Amino acid sequence: MSADIIDGKAFAEGLRTRLAAIVADFRAKAGRAPGLAVVLVGEDPASQVYVRSKGKATREAGMESFEYRLPATATQDEIVALVKKLNADDAVDGILVQLPLPAHVNEDLIIATIDPDKDVDGFHVVNVGRLSTGLHGYVPCTPLGCIMLLRDRLGDLSGLDAVIVGRSNIVGKPMAQLLLAENCTVTVAHSRTKNLRDVVRRADIVVAAVGRPEMIRGDWIKPGATVIDVGINRVPGAEPGKTKLVGDVAFAEAAEVAGAITPVPGGVGPMTIAVLLRNTVVAAHRRAGVPLAKGAI
Ligand code: GUN
Repeated sequence: MSADIIDGKAFAEGLRTRLAAIVADFRAKAGRAPGLAVVLVGEDPASQVYVRSKGKATREAGMESFEYRLPATATQDEIVALVKKLNADDAVDGILVQLPLPAHVNEDLIIATIDPDKDVDGFHVVNVGRLSTGLHGYVPCTPLGCIMLLRDRLGDLSGLDAVIVGRSNIVGKPMAQLLLAENCTVTVAHSRTKNLRDVVRRADIVVAAVGRPEMIRGDWIKPGATVIDVGINRVPGAEPGKTKLVGDVAFAEAAEVAGAITPVPGGVGPMTIAVLLRNTVVAAHRRAGVPLAKGAI
């Protein structure tokens, strides 16, 4: 293996430690802790794990975690009413409604109900618009985490060719906006892209966010490129009945060619929660009128 490993776990731990110090300072100035409300509807096992981890990380950073669990049978009106209550609650700086929601609920409508200034997920159309026009808003956590790792590794990204594989609202599209803002030349590739291998091979930066296990092979990577693997796919493991996590990139092959690469697990994954805490801390400062030093986080 020739590539350097980009240790997202260590970077996320560092960010969380810095946030805890900023939170302590905020508490002294504002007389309260930043508050994050997380809403979970139904019993999806993966969502339950995510929500538990988010609550734990929030408390560990010295912040207030408000958790709301509604049954899978909750009506759309009940969820809207809860979100409106959280919008009006001064102790709540950030609101996250865990997705996916049950099929009978209109996700777009629920997200549209969140106050954009408490939308720490950055999913509300107002924040999508702010991001695409360069205004201050909230940026989705996973792509912002990827940018932090890229800046840490590469410094100035100006002029680099970036190829994003995947065009989801949560990762691919905001990633494109963020890389544009870093002055990259950005290509968004997807399932209908012709000659995907050749497109990826042009990239100085590859961001893989397709949700297809190990789809991007080693010989698709330009030598020395920086590879950010957003995929988290559970596949059968070596032993019968066991599973393992793999990314969207064939790690062992790509690591022979790339300059640097994020592993799965331990790469982008841990960044998502750390950036969620960061967005909540930013929201708390803005809402309370407490200045936050530029570049502090
Ligand atoms: N489900 C999976 N990832 C996310 C996320 O980042 N935010 C929300 N709200 N739900 C998710």
